[in-house]
Amino acid sequence: MARTIAVSGSASGIGQALASMLRDAGDTVIGIDLRDADVRADLGGPEGRSRAVAEVLDLSGGTLDAVVACAGVSDFTVLPVKVNYFGAVALLDGLRPALARAAAPRAAVVGSIAGTHPVDEAVVRACLDGDEAAALRAAAKVVEAGAGSQTYSSSKSALAQWLRRACVTPEWAGAGIPLNAIAPGVVRTPMTEPLFADEAMFQIMNEAVPMPLNGYADAEVIAEALRWLISPVNTHMTGQVIYVDGGAEPALRDPGVF
Ligand SMILES: NC(=O)c1ccc[n+]([C@@H]2O[C@H](COP(=O)([O-])OP(=O)(O)OC[C@H]3O[C@@H](n4cnc5c(N)ncnc54)[C@H](O)[C@@H]3O)[C@@H](O)[C@H]2O)c1
Repeated sequence: MARTIAVSGSASGIGQALASMLRDAGDTVIGIDLRDADVRADLGGPEGRSRAVAEVLDLSGGTLDAVVACAGVSDFTVLPVKVNYFGAVALLDGLRPALARAAAPRAAVVGSIAGTHPVDEAVVRACLDGDEAAALRAAAKVVEAGAGSQTYSSSKSALAQWLRRACVTPEWAGAGIPLNAIAPGVVRTPMTEPLFADEAMFQIMNEAVPMPLNGYADAEVIAEALRWLISPVNTHMTGQVIYVDGGAEPALRDPGVF
């Protein structure tokens, strides 16, 4: 049966691949992005987030079968905290009542292998406290200290922890809504193009994200995994961060981590 699915970051990369896969299968996709989308909104700030939620509710008629928060940025500023964490959480929280009205609702976010890299604990804590001003202050200190990549890793770590807390609550599990993440390794998209173009960055990326199984992924690989997570057949998996990363996570982490 055709479903109505909201996808943020639908204008590029993984979100675009997912949106076109779903549309090809007959679903109605409500794309959200800064440009080239059904809903054009900036998820980096409160006004854009509220407008995105309101417009998606309007276009969907108030019922959504699935939401995928895919929009993200990876620059070494405070922006990843705004978009990757607060933008994603606001979208999911804002659209959750519309999911609760569907027969088989599903939600997913796009995390990252970077969520397992070093993070700034003050940023993560402020995110989980829902204190965006404090998170941005802490992130600005991280940038000033020259550890800008940690704003990205912190945003993705916080997002994974948020979903593991939220997924079992009455609002999510109690409403029958599985909430999971796909955490990619390196995916060939416009986001990573500059890394492939720069020899020094390429070396750093190879060391930070070793991918012994089949190397770098295409966006469609991640989109397929997201598609399964939000399909009606996923009745019992929730709170999971699934690494679709060519083996980077087992290569990097203690095998005793469960
Ligand atoms: N490409 C990778 O290697 C990789 C690895 C791990 C995780 N990810 C995650 O996957 C997701 C998708 O990344 P991608 O590689 O497809 O990147 P991409 O740059 O191709 O696409 C990201 C999309 O998000 C949109 N976006 C950015 N800021 C926004 C904002 N403020 N409001 C609304 N939309 C905004 C962009 O316009 C763009 O269309 C991101 O969350 C990213 O962190 C990517």
